[in-house]
Amino acid sequence: MTGGLMVPLSGQSQSAGQDQFQLINGNTVDLSEIINLFDFEKMAEGKMPKMAFEYVASGAADEFTVRWNRQALDAIKLNPNVLNDVSKLDTSVTLFGHKLPYPILVAPTAFHKIMHPEGELATARGASKAEAIYVVSSFTTTPLEEIKKVATEPFWFQLYVRDDKEFTKNLVQKAEELGCRALCITVDTPVGGARDRQARVNFKLPDGINAPYRIGESLSITWKEMEWLISFAKVPVLLKGILHPDDADKAIEIGASGIIVSNHSGRNLDTVPATIEVLPRIVERVNKRIPILMDGGIRRGTDVLKAIALGANAVLVGKPICFGLASGGAEGVTKTLEILRAEFEMAMALTGRATIASIDQSLIWK
Ligand code: LAC
Repeated sequence: MTGGLMVPLSGQSQSAGQDQFQLINGNTVDLSEIINLFDFEKMAEGKMPKMAFEYVASGAADEFTVRWNRQALDAIKLNPNVLNDVSKLDTSVTLFGHKLPYPILVAPTAFHKIMHPEGELATARGASKAEAIYVVSSFTTTPLEEIKKVATEPFWFQLYVRDDKEFTKNLVQKAEELGCRALCITVDTPVGGARDRQARVNFKLPDGINAPYRIGESLSITWKEMEWLISFAKVPVLLKGILHPDDADKAIEIGASGIIVSNHSGRNLDTVPATIEVLPRIVERVNKRIPILMDGGIRRGTDVLKAIALGANAVLVGKPICFGLASGGAEGVTKTLEILRAEFEMAMALTGRATIASIDQSLIWK
């Protein structure tokens, strides 16, 4: 588990001090007590400046949707089979011609330098070490060129379409030239949500931290701008933030390559349903025409299993990555993904599913 800017503490063997690392700045990060993703959230709360924690952890308004994302996953019961051969698991999935060793991606989240001094570089290193695709936010606080230098796994790019369309087009082309394999266009944010908790801490980027691609204003995009984007994109375009089956249909009509069922982690429109509740409707309408990803509330391997059983091709995790990053930089990101991956493998074995293809609706207790 050594990586990037961290080295094992001297004198400790890999097995004894596996989770203790010394940062280049001399601080020590000890992740040995982290057992699950909730532990990371607690640790992050203790380590992050309040403004940063509130930014990451909060949702919109009364945070019903934030809670529902979790509650709806928790409420689903599993219906396992026994005595299937699960001695060898194949957790791999292929998305847009690229084989992922397991169906979990790093969701786009903004402003990583407010969470950890190494910011997106730590996220990229940590995700790469865990063999996961990192969807870089267009509100990254690190230029893409630098992220590209440290990432050893492919990255995708999330886009907020800015009012300067030429700038937006150039940014897409830059991302493509740097090797970005897919674009996720966020379509659920014509305006921001009622971010009460962010307002209470007067959230703003601290001096010295800036987001180089957050230029001008967000464009209130329509299907027309989406068609325009798809017309020149050279990589698959996914629409992120689809909740209505009719919008899934329209996305396919205009040539989208994938859909991300997302409620922006409850950060925009409060009281929309949990994504795991919405997912089956989208899956039914899309009917395997294009891949469907889902994010929102994933904290456990069983959550990943449930999303796949209900028709998702893969899931993304956002907040847990931020908490891992804040807790332990690249190592925290890697450990977050490794825990989720290991739990997912356990859940597959314990439900008698050796392959992703065998994870279907019959796994859900009705
Ligand atoms: C947010 C925006 C940046 O959720 O996506 O804070």
